[in-house]
Amino acid sequence: MEQGKLCLIIWCLVSCTPFDTRGQKITDENQAIQFLREVSDQAEIVRYHSVMANWIYNTNITDYNEQKMLEASSVLAEFDKEARHNASLFDISGFDEDTIRQFEFLLYIGSAALSSEDKLEYDTIISKMKRTYSTAKVCGRPGHNPSECFSLEPDLTRILADSRDYDELLWCWEGWRDEAGKPTRDDYTQFVELANKAAKANDEKFDDFGDYLRYSYDVDDLQADVLRLYAQLEPLYKKLHAYVRRRLYQHYGDDKIDVKGPIPAHLLGNMWAQQWNNILDLVEPFPGKPTVDVTDRLQELGYTAERMFEISEDFFVDLGLAATPESFWNESMIVKPDDGREVVCHASAWDFYNKEDFRIKQCTDITMQSLITVHHEMGHVQYFLQYKDQPVVYRGGANHGFHEAVGDVLALSVSTPEHLQTIGLLDVIGDDEESDLNYLMSQALKKIVFLPFGLIMDLWRWDVYAGKITPQNYNAKWWELRTKYQGIAPSVPRSEEDFDPAAKYHTNSNTPYIRYFVSYIIQFQFHKALCELAGQGDVPLHRCDIHQSQAAGAKLADMLKLGKSKPWPEAMHALTGSRQMDAQPLMDYFQPLIDWLDEENGKNGDTLGWDPTSGSQTEHPKVNLIMATVLFVLGIMIYR
Ligand SMILES: *[C@@H]1O[C@H](CO)[C@@H](O)[C@H](O)[C@H]1NC(C)=O
Ligand SMILES: *[C@@H]1O[C@H](CO)[C@@H](O)[C@H](O)[C@H]1NC(C)=O
Ligand SMILES: *[C@@H]1O[C@H](CO)[C@@H](O)[C@H](O)[C@H]1NC(C)=O
Ligand SMILES: [Zn+2]
Repeated sequence: MEQGKLCLIIWCLVSCTPFDTRGQKITDENQAIQFLREVSDQAEIVRYHSVMANWIYNTNITDYNEQKMLEASSVLAEFDKEARHNASLFDISGFDEDTIRQFEFLLYIGSAALSSEDKLEYDTIISKMKRTYSTAKVCGRPGHNPSECFSLEPDLTRILADSRDYDELLWCWEGWRDEAGKPTRDDYTQFVELANKAAKANDEKFDDFGDYLRYSYDVDDLQADVLRLYAQLEPLYKKLHAYVRRRLYQHYGDDKIDVKGPIPAHLLGNMWAQQWNNILDLVEPFPGKPTVDVTDRLQELGYTAERMFEISEDFFVDLGLAATPESFWNESMIVKPDDGREVVCHASAWDFYNKEDFRIKQCTDITMQSLITVHHEMGHVQYFLQYKDQPVVYRGGANHGFHEAVGDVLALSVSTPEHLQTIGLLDVIGDDEESDLNYLMSQALKKIVFLPFGLIMDLWRWDVYAGKITPQNYNAKWWELRTKYQGIAPSVPRSEEDFDPAAKYHTNSNTPYIRYFVSYIIQFQFHKALCELAGQGDVPLHRCDIHQSQAAGAKLADMLKLGKSKPWPEAMHALTGSRQMDAQPLMDYFQPLIDWLDEENGKNGDTLGWDPTSGSQTEHPKVNLIMATVLFVLGIMIYR
């Protein structure tokens, strides 16, 4: 100890001048390492204050709390700018790989690179959009008191999930877009300008904000990569789409559903039609078999939000992963407050950067869907816990998709009928083929259905940032993508008075979305690898439960501990043996269902796809088939 100190003093006498007066850059690596350590220590403190101010605002939306949050954000931005400036005084070219990597993360600082006036405007706009979204309420429900108003969580979400009344659903769908989407159009337009300015302020090499955001994935052309992956998966989606459309036709009738057209967007059980599992009852392949949706059971058993979080905690701990600290349990907000406070209900997980404070904010509903979300958010917290001792610049997912995948991977095990039975949520599990197909259908309605939605959110935004989509066609282009990829269409006229992309939280909160698409691909790669480690290599992928496998837990922890200290292909390789995103494990998982869908669609004489103009024109199934095959083969050539 003493000797160490002495050395430091002597070394400092020789070389501790902060920077060279002749403007030459600093090349001493020890000095660089010392600088990085100091920046990380300071960043912990500045970030803590900013995250705390954010938390207070998000759990109690008031003008005062908003002001405090904006102030903290500006302090953080000044800090990030200063760190970037200080970092630029070093010549990093001769440094060790890891030192260089840390410096590079100090270089790109997002919107903090804006001037302080612009940064304040940027933060203010986002805060305003989030507030509009979070406090929006829809009134005038058919058959109800006109002054009774409904918020997204839990009311509108439940109506979308449970109602089978075409007109009531449409009221809900349209009302939400009027209240949460429409009002933010001008704010969003202004936001886009500032975001592009921020990209340039980081580095002139960025064409626009989309280019800046894609850069973090460290691949040549992220858009081309995800489009190639999707081309591989699109045939699966179209099979599922055709089958669901047929079932909806049987339920709602031919005046509501066109068996060759896109599906009405409000009938799929979810406000954005991003997952369709809430209409499982309408589309279950073999009704009458034991159901795998445990919502009723959770409610019968009087489950609380806390109990649901404990289930998730137990699953992590049983794998040998980290337990959440006590403060997590008393500081998190896991139920919507009933004291009149407005809060941002959209579920999120929070790292306070002090190595001990981690929280979740979720307006937990007692449903299966919510139970899965609990696991998703707990996955983020687990990642935080695993990488908390890394320097601040490395506290993040190997890429953003990794962060989104952790909880979902575990939920793939938790959702299996076997596991639900183990924890007392299912009495009987069918082990016949028909029950199995019911289960796969429920999973497909979450996972396969999500893929095109996960793709278009950012396809739309990337084109907006690039100026290819302008305020004059914001909404038209949005629906073009929705119909092209998702095969859905609005049942009431839309115009440029509307702003439907902003009826989704991530648009208003400026949260990039391609991470979720990436996550839905790689979580199956992770699941497969963990199942093999858990000795379940012989179990079909969709029935594997890694519950209590220390081997799987340890390997997962190893990857999570890295944070973003290594390029993501290395992190992925350590767990899966592959360095690439690969759609094959997802396809393997669903293969039995895909075979069944082929048969079923054949029986019904359904053609895949949809005529975007709905109806009259006939399809060319042969051409579609050839195209799909060509894309499929291309996909395999590039990704295997
Ligand atoms: C919400 O914030 C306000 C400050 O704007 C404060 O007076 C109030 O006590 C807070 N409410 C809760 C429940 O924390
Ligand atoms: C930047 O360098 C100055 C001068 O050495 C120092 O006072 C300041 O704390 C440093 N800030 C950061 C964020 O590194
Ligand atoms: C929460 O738990 C922590 C750790 O036990 C304790 O220090 C803190 O006072 C508790 N906070 C509240 C609000 O109960
Ligand atoms: Zn998430």
